[in-house]
Amino acid sequence: NSAGVAGGRLLGFSAVAISDADTVRVPPGYRAQPLLPWGTPITGRMPAFDPLKNSGADQASQMGSHHDGMHFFPIEGRDPFNGGSDDGLLVMNHEYVEPRFMHASAVGQKLDRDAVPALVNGKRVADECLKELNGHGVSVVRIRRGENGRWEMVADARNRRITGLTPMEIAGPVRGSDFVRTRYSPDGTRVRGTLNNCAHGVTPWNTYMMAEENWAGYFINRVPAGERPREQSRYGVRSRDSKPAASRYGWELADSGADDFVRFDVTATGAAANQDYRNEANGFGWMVEFDPFNPASTPVKRTALGRFAHEGVIFHKGVEGQPVVCYSGDDATNEYIYKYVSRGVFERAKGLANGALLDDGTLYVARFNDDGTGDWLPLVVGQGALTRELFASQAELLVNTRLAADRVGATRMDRPEWGAIDPKTGQVYFTLTNNSGRNETNKANPRAKSRWGHIIRWTEAGNSPTATHFKWDIFLLSGPAGDSELAGKPLSAEQIHNSPDGLWFDRNGRLWIQTDISESAMNKGDYVQFGNNQMLCADPNSKELRRFLVGPLGQEITGVVTTPDGRTMFVNVQHPGATTSADEFAAGKLRGTWPNQGRYPRSSTIVITKDDGGVIGT
Ligand code: FEO
Ligand code: CA
Ligand code: CA
Ligand code: CA
Repeated sequence: NSAGVAGGRLLGFSAVAISDADTVRVPPGYRAQPLLPWGTPITGRMPAFDPLKNSGADQASQMGSHHDGMHFFPIEGRDPFNGGSDDGLLVMNHEYVEPRFMHASAVGQKLDRDAVPALVNGKRVADECLKELNGHGVSVVRIRRGENGRWEMVADARNRRITGLTPMEIAGPVRGSDFVRTRYSPDGTRVRGTLNNCAHGVTPWNTYMMAEENWAGYFINRVPAGERPREQSRYGVRSRDSKPAASRYGWELADSGADDFVRFDVTATGAAANQDYRNEANGFGWMVEFDPFNPASTPVKRTALGRFAHEGVIFHKGVEGQPVVCYSGDDATNEYIYKYVSRGVFERAKGLANGALLDDGTLYVARFNDDGTGDWLPLVVGQGALTRELFASQAELLVNTRLAADRVGATRMDRPEWGAIDPKTGQVYFTLTNNSGRNETNKANPRAKSRWGHIIRWTEAGNSPTATHFKWDIFLLSGPAGDSELAGKPLSAEQIHNSPDGLWFDRNGRLWIQTDISESAMNKGDYVQFGNNQMLCADPNSKELRRFLVGPLGQEITGVVTTPDGRTMFVNVQHPGATTSADEFAAGKLRGTWPNQGRYPRSSTIVITKDDGGVIGT
């Protein structure tokens, strides 16, 4: 059996050492090659990449930036487990952009990683705003393994960009409600674009879902902070009191004054008839589904799954005749973990029509009791504390999902990031990356001001995904040798890491763990000992854990999937070089240039193969 190694062990590679080099390191016998860096032309007129010359329209035909969650959809067989392993659609999220690397106007300016080029007469250049909006979203790219064993992009009618401007449907209880009526969609059924797509999910009917995570900061409401409506304030939509008093990229200041940009100021009003953007932000904060095989498919925001800073979504295996069950974390300090159970049941033969299962069901939020038990608390209007005085409808409750969860006594977690389900046991694992905002600890979140993070796991009662009770324990306390634990032992030099974020089980039961130490902390002080962000591999059964990969400078490792045969792995490197300071950028001294293809560092996928053609991890 090629899935294992001698003695039936899952892990067969030698650990990679901590590193702060500007390169990707993998174990001996493995190789890692960049593929599809930001700006690679994939569709349309196939504009060649030139960061200082490409237009906003060009970016809509190229790979977006800041690669994140991704999945490989086999073309032959179309089965995620048994489909072909040489030809498929690689579908990935692009979480955000780094404007200083995108525009000729930025050259020589003192810009840090979040800054946009200086305003001119209080305005931003509209085409720069367009380029940034088009750098967000999702890429669908056909890739194929050539005769020489190398993976290459294939020009294909299915190649596609979804961006911050792509028209989308709203489905589920919020569709058509007053909360999503906008100038763009007076009947509240459509919304323009998706933003800050962090991790993803794959449904049991083989569609892709993108999560909208830190969307709130893309909007501003020019009223005092205390006057924002609760559906904005609880999520952090910016206000007149924010510093600076502008949205993340200031798109609302585009010099064209076009509706596509102005909408990011929800208080904007103007000459145009019915100019009213008050509900624009309510169109964001959802999980979004689309069919990657149909380039004309319209993405659908599935509102029954709740509105928050969705990190991603993870589904239990589809079982014929049973409800569909998935989990999603809200990645912000002291937020919650949610579960959704469909009312209807999965029927494989229905194919894409199973998507409607995500429009009608029960959303629950988790309470982790200190005795190792847990409860799923339903978020249903009219039940218990969720009175009709608080929320007049399920639509209003869902738009305010965090407030509903506050009311039922859910457990505030240390920033829930990715989840993963053990294919052998059905046990659910979630990363809790860190939490500078924790003052009071509990058993499930045992560290005050958690700096290193941990991984929690649970088993549903009776091992039934639809259960409303569960048993949990902490699988791994991340951190340095002196403050960490796996199976009762401190982590060794081959294991230390911090801020676990990406998480994925391969079909053989290897748990892949990716880290995201923030740019402000990495390679400094107490964090020097962890080196650059990395990926480890664990066997939860044997409790082995070893570092498999260390990435280049300034980045986070996020997103991982293999081909069905397990012999090619795709991993994303997001925001390499991001630790370059504003002064260094102005002086043209970059702290990290990986993958060394052009002027600036570029987020990129890496393709990992084994020299002997074996399964990755063996
Ligand atoms: Fe986009 Fe929570 O990481
Ligand atoms: Ca993440
Ligand atoms: Ca993170
Ligand atoms: Ca990051």
